[in-house]
Amino acid sequence: MEITSVWFTTKGITDSKAKLVLHINYTNLCTIIFFFIVSPAISVLVYRIKYAPTTNPTDSYVFQRGLVKANVDFQEILAENSKVSENTSHRHYNYPVLAYITPWNSKGYEIAKRFNSKFTHLSPVWYDLKSQGTGLILEGNNNADVGWISELRRSGDAWVYPELFWKHFLQNCLRGRSKGIKLLNLLDMGYDGIVLEAWSRWAAYGILHDPEMRNSALQFIKQLGHALHSLSSARNDEQQLQLVFVIGPPHSDKLQKHDFGPEDLQSLSNAVDGFSLMTYDFSSPQNPGPNAPLKWIHSTLRLILRPTGNSAQGPAHKIFLGINFYGNDFVLAGGLGGGAITGRDYLSLLEKHRPLLQWEKNSGEHLFFYSNDDNIKHAVFYPSLLSISMQLEEARSWGCGISIWEIGQGLDYFFDLL
Ligand SMILES: *[C@@H]1O[C@H](CO)[C@@H](O)[C@H](O)[C@H]1NC(C)=O
Repeated sequence: MEITSVWFTTKGITDSKAKLVLHINYTNLCTIIFFFIVSPAISVLVYRIKYAPTTNPTDSYVFQRGLVKANVDFQEILAENSKVSENTSHRHYNYPVLAYITPWNSKGYEIAKRFNSKFTHLSPVWYDLKSQGTGLILEGNNNADVGWISELRRSGDAWVYPELFWKHFLQNCLRGRSKGIKLLNLLDMGYDGIVLEAWSRWAAYGILHDPEMRNSALQFIKQLGHALHSLSSARNDEQQLQLVFVIGPPHSDKLQKHDFGPEDLQSLSNAVDGFSLMTYDFSSPQNPGPNAPLKWIHSTLRLILRPTGNSAQGPAHKIFLGINFYGNDFVLAGGLGGGAITGRDYLSLLEKHRPLLQWEKNSGEHLFFYSNDDNIKHAVFYPSLLSISMQLEEARSWGCGISIWEIGQGLDYFFDLL
């Protein structure tokens, strides 16, 4: 990679702002052009890593009240789910915690402010990467909520990495025929990095099954990571911009060529600062069942973190293990599939059907059954304090961070575990 030019210019921009243009060339791949607008209004904050040296999960309020258990009933969930410890800043999970926030579950914005210190990284899902002509553009500036970001800045020091969703095939880009990508205004907000979600699109478009395309795609990620590292955060000029790359779990218990594996992890390790691993959606309406069985999470981590060559230390500290704060309400027989539910949906199902909750030891999840008015049988899988705390223990045992999809869908008392 060759950085052809880096310069500051104030041309054509409102007087109080400076514009940084970074132009990068990479033979055979896309040209990336970043237009970064640095606002002097954003003060420089020094980020402190807030890892407590030792934390004891059982100190948390929900443990102390005896709520983290297999044998729970719906009354207890209804009565307790909104009660949390008065101290919302005390951390119980001492590795990084990345929280996704989406505009369509706006409760997440409140949660991010309320439990600010529990999160090390906040990722609002605001931007789409789309093709335009032979280039790529970033859409979603209208989603970006400046007021919310500055409130976060005042009350905490979590990094903000907006998520960029790779929307289209973007074939030109990966085939090297693109003129460029314009990532407009990324720094205008004082972001500290980005999260790129492209893997699911690449899988859907068959890119991962074509070795040449797959390789180009991963080269693109390296190029993007190095480009970001060559820039510093507007808040702290000693801090490089960071790249978190979203990856999917292998599809079977044996790693296939197209799956993301230990070799990929190693080859991207200089360019990518974190990997957000989507360890959920194990089941689907066609195949109802638990969302993130614990054994599957364990085997996924074992496949991806399998030591490669003679590297003694694994890259586990770069993994953000995915934890779902949504659930599923599947139709079992006599109707159409069903799908994802939020915490609010879950509470109304509990109120309406007063179900008997069951603990599934094999998957490490709670579930219940109900029949709706037309006598159609449903199975509901939604995270519980026990299922989440077991996933946290799994992540902790590897030294992994976690990533939560997404905080607007959870119940308040889940955050006591973090
Ligand atoms: C809340 O927890 C934080 C972090 O552990 C601690 O520094 C602070 O003193 C606590 N606040 C109160 C009011 O106990």
